[in-house]
Amino acid sequence: MSSSTSTRHPLVVAITGASGAPYAVRLLEQLVAARHPVSLIISGHGLRLLQTETELDSVEALREHVGAAAWDESVTVYDDKDRGAAPASGSARSSGMIICPCSMGTISAIAHGSSRSLVERAADVTLKERRPLIVVPRETPLSAIHLENLLTLTRAGAIVLPAAPGFYHRPTSIDELVDFIVARVLDHAGVEHQIGRRWGGGDDQE
Ligand SMILES: Cc1cc2nc3c(=O)[nH]c(=O)nc-3n(C[C@H](O)[C@H](O)[C@H](O)COP(=O)(O)O)c2cc1C
Repeated sequence: MSSSTSTRHPLVVAITGASGAPYAVRLLEQLVAARHPVSLIISGHGLRLLQTETELDSVEALREHVGAAAWDESVTVYDDKDRGAAPASGSARSSGMIICPCSMGTISAIAHGSSRSLVERAADVTLKERRPLIVVPRETPLSAIHLENLLTLTRAGAIVLPAAPGFYHRPTSIDELVDFIVARVLDHAGVEHQIGRRWGGGDDQE
């Protein structure tokens, strides 16, 4: 795979209002570092949780945090209210979609095809076009409704990758817990990375 942003189709990345904004920040850092083109959509509550859970209070602050120059080469930001934006159409090329973190509200909307926001419509399109859809849900405990919606998405072809880090590497920091999940997301998205640790010390990582 080329390292040039121009030869790869964008990954649609959505941040919604489940707890776990640090996962989204780390994911964007890694995608921008890999120079992977990104179509970014942040729901209203996605921004609210970013403000609550990190020191970042705006999309501009997120851009500065990741690195403005590299961000501008990789990231295109779309308004979640604009259901006519490029990610709303299957004719717009993409290499798949990641929703990280993903609220149970958005999980429900995708499972039922309601598409009332750009995030929901882009996920609907990703499934109908048979492109990879990775959702990173976070809620506890889970109701029967949540579980049925997650099963519906799994049966529709989505990868349900809960924000549930493992402890078998004996993490000593929040950053390690965050990297545990983001590394799994990047693996499933087919994006090369050097974060996290692989059990058994495989590949070129610790
Ligand atoms: C502080 C805070 C934490 C929340 N945590 C979660 C969560 O972990 N999981 C979840 O499904 N919803 C959570 N919610 C509720 C969602 O933000 C809410 O259902 C919202 O409507 C989701 O909309 P969105 O998917 O368009 O972002 C939280 C809300 C707040 C204000």
